Amino acid sequence: MKDLAYSTIDSYHQAKQLARKNPEPFWAEIAKNFQWHKPWDKVLEYDFHAPEVKWFLGGKLNITENCLDRHLKTQPDQTAIIFEPNDPSEAAEHITYKELHSRVCRAANMLKANGAKKGDRICIYMPMTPELAIAVLACARIGAIHSVVFAGFSATALAARINDAACTMLLTADGSYRGPKITPLKAIADEALTQCPTIKNCIVFKRTGQEVEWNSIDLWWHEELEKVSDSCPAEIMDSEDPLFILYTSGSTGKPKGMVHSCGGYMVYTAYSFQNVFQYQKGDVYWCTADIGWITGHSYIVYGPLAVGATTVMFEGVPSYPDYGRFWEVCAKHKVNQFYTAPTAIRALEKHPTSLVEKHDLSSLKVLGSVGEPINAEAWHWYDKHVGKHNCPIADTWWQTETGGILISSLAGVTPQKPTYATLPMPGIQAVLLDNDGNELEGEAEGILAIKHPWPSIARTIWGDHERYKKVYFSAYPGYYFPGDGALRDADGNYRITGRVDDVVIVSGHNLGTAPIENALNEHTNVVESAVVGFPHDIKGNALHAFVIPNKSVDDAEKLTNELRDLVAKTIGPIAKPDRIQVVSGLPKTRSGKIMRRILRKLAAGEYDNLGDISTLLNPEVVEEIKQNS
Ligand code: WT7
Repeated sequence: MKDLAYSTIDSYHQAKQLARKNPEPFWAEIAKNFQWHKPWDKVLEYDFHAPEVKWFLGGKLNITENCLDRHLKTQPDQTAIIFEPNDPSEAAEHITYKELHSRVCRAANMLKANGAKKGDRICIYMPMTPELAIAVLACARIGAIHSVVFAGFSATALAARINDAACTMLLTADGSYRGPKITPLKAIADEALTQCPTIKNCIVFKRTGQEVEWNSIDLWWHEELEKVSDSCPAEIMDSEDPLFILYTSGSTGKPKGMVHSCGGYMVYTAYSFQNVFQYQKGDVYWCTADIGWITGHSYIVYGPLAVGATTVMFEGVPSYPDYGRFWEVCAKHKVNQFYTAPTAIRALEKHPTSLVEKHDLSSLKVLGSVGEPINAEAWHWYDKHVGKHNCPIADTWWQTETGGILISSLAGVTPQKPTYATLPMPGIQAVLLDNDGNELEGEAEGILAIKHPWPSIARTIWGDHERYKKVYFSAYPGYYFPGDGALRDADGNYRITGRVDDVVIVSGHNLGTAPIENALNEHTNVVESAVVGFPHDIKGNALHAFVIPNKSVDDAEKLTNELRDLVAKTIGPIAKPDRIQVVSGLPKTRSGKIMRRILRKLAAGEYDNLGDISTLLNPEVVEEIKQNS
């Protein structure tokens, strides 16, 4: 994969220039690093107004041959996956490329033997064990479209996703270990399946060994595997055939099933993985995400395996058995590249640094961050205590919809700047727009948009192309609109400032909640904040701020006065929140995003109408907020 990587600043600049002038030959050169059954006839066809995007048209491939088969010739005994179980006393598992290939092929035959075929949708609701990665790859092997649902979601959420895509098969497990808890996945799946008429088979992987109920459609994973061989030719796919569906939340309650296709997704995830993390043969790379999210799809499974990397899969949580677990695992497996989320860093930062210092982190070369803007405090803590000021930090901006990282530094190659995602990757044409859709030049703050397609852009929303058009291509015609605001410094570095769709109109003024939160967060006693609007007799809407202090608050009135002054000073008196509520936590999704929809209801006092809060990371804070308001 050498030809994918820019490891010097000069080669980076060259690539960037070529990609801007001639995007199609640029991407064609990159795509030549992969194994195609038939080369493409045309690199790109697109129309952002339709909208329609197609890459490597006419090309034929199977992504699993690129992730597995081709490495068998060059590095069959290289470790593909290191599995670190939830319980540190259980042995870690090292799976070579040869073994992974065999296990994926066997699982693929198990799916086929139970009626699965190309184009079928298969739902995967499994814990973070190697079988989850194997399940994903087995679907891809036979051309079935996988739809992974994070194994922390409720029965209602699972059923909604299964039904939206009319999945015909469910792959699940008896239970899942997460820290000190066991989640009864099979029981949750059983409850979901009472509402899912399209499911014909449910294959159950045994992980915890707990008792489960058994229905007529249920099959044991280990029994089914015994009936089939480990030889399974890969289904030949068109470059534009769907590879998977992954749901992401939208501004309405209904999740959006983002559809990614085979060729472009393969090319872009491998390209971005290699360049951002500067992976070198033999390195051990660890992304702490769950495969239930896009980060796990692109940067635990497909990207790393496509370049022949060793990728760590961790079943547990950062706090178990103590808050030093991440660092213990880094030391144990001599991790070289470590990729996590700011929300995890902020949680770990609150605990004694001795929990970091006592582990040998000298193997670390590169750190990564993803999921939300990384605040300065978290950035410096990560840099100092984990990286020992010796590891570049790649702050990677992207989305479920983009399939891969679009804005990031290339570790150790391009300059980093704390709290900035920095520069768009070569081949990514990012711009800033004003509210009327005019492109801004130079140093500016505005709406982030992308001008030209990249290979891993989601092609549609499953079953709802109109919504795809409306959400991403209508606000600023001719651009892909991600929904984030950003500012750009004189060197072209981008700093993501937050979602721009959370706009509240107060007394006729459009106020973005993100800048108000940024102002509140400047206060030394504020760790995190969230601002939402609530109906107000006079102003139309007023602002309610929820703030998490970093030490106990003796004088709440003093703090709220200081915060109001701070907002007035930074943005203007109009932006001063009417209410400031001190809370111990904010309701968050499992990927660490604040659930503003719930905060808006809480601020409006609509306690009976909160919707399903079972998918939250911390449903208990909802009760606390109600009690204290
Ligand atoms: C939204 C996408 C990307 C995979 C995980 C989340 C925010 C993501 C960053 C970053 C600032 C970030 C954006 C984006 N976001 N990474 N490095 N800096 N903001 O995927 O759930 O689809 O969320 O996460 O607001 O739009 P997702």
